[in-house]
Amino acid sequence: MGYHMSLSIRLTINGQPRDVALDDPRVTLLDLLRERLHLTGTKKGCDRGQCGACTVLVDGRRINSCLALAASMDGAQITTIEGLADGETLHPVQATFIAHDGFQCGYCTPGQIMSAVGLINEGRAGDDPERIRELMSGNICRCGAYQGITEAVLEAQKILSDDEKRDAA
Ligand code: FES
Ligand code: FES
Repeated sequence: MGYHMSLSIRLTINGQPRDVALDDPRVTLLDLLRERLHLTGTKKGCDRGQCGACTVLVDGRRINSCLALAASMDGAQITTIEGLADGETLHPVQATFIAHDGFQCGYCTPGQIMSAVGLINEGRAGDDPERIRELMSGNICRCGAYQGITEAVLEAQKILSDDEKRDAA
């Protein structure tokens, strides 16, 4: 009898519940998203935790999806770049990346944006560009668009916190 293991998980991706049967228990979250679910906005750069191109949010926290096993995601809420915009309306982080030229070739951009959303959720970035650079240092940009990225994060953070204040008022 050959060894066979099939594992079923249920997860929520961009607000939609999904049941997924995993034939290979070693498949990464990144490969599950890109190859099985065709959510190719999340990029594969290094596939070993060193570039941040594959960043997604799991239960609101940013992770490198190339290092996460899909099998460990049972019950998780996943947000990818495809889930950020609200219909035609861009998420503030997407809008500020455009406004501040936060990208050139765009390859790192989905990961940068997801990392920025996670960072803003963490609420510890403050308004110091150096600190933002440091807290985003897991996201490599080979085009060197760092200045625009940092400006975009700062402005998005301000927009989001103003929104929060307005909602609380
Ligand atoms: S592809 Fe995951 S960190 Fe590079
Ligand atoms: S925009 Fe090209 S790698 Fe960042």
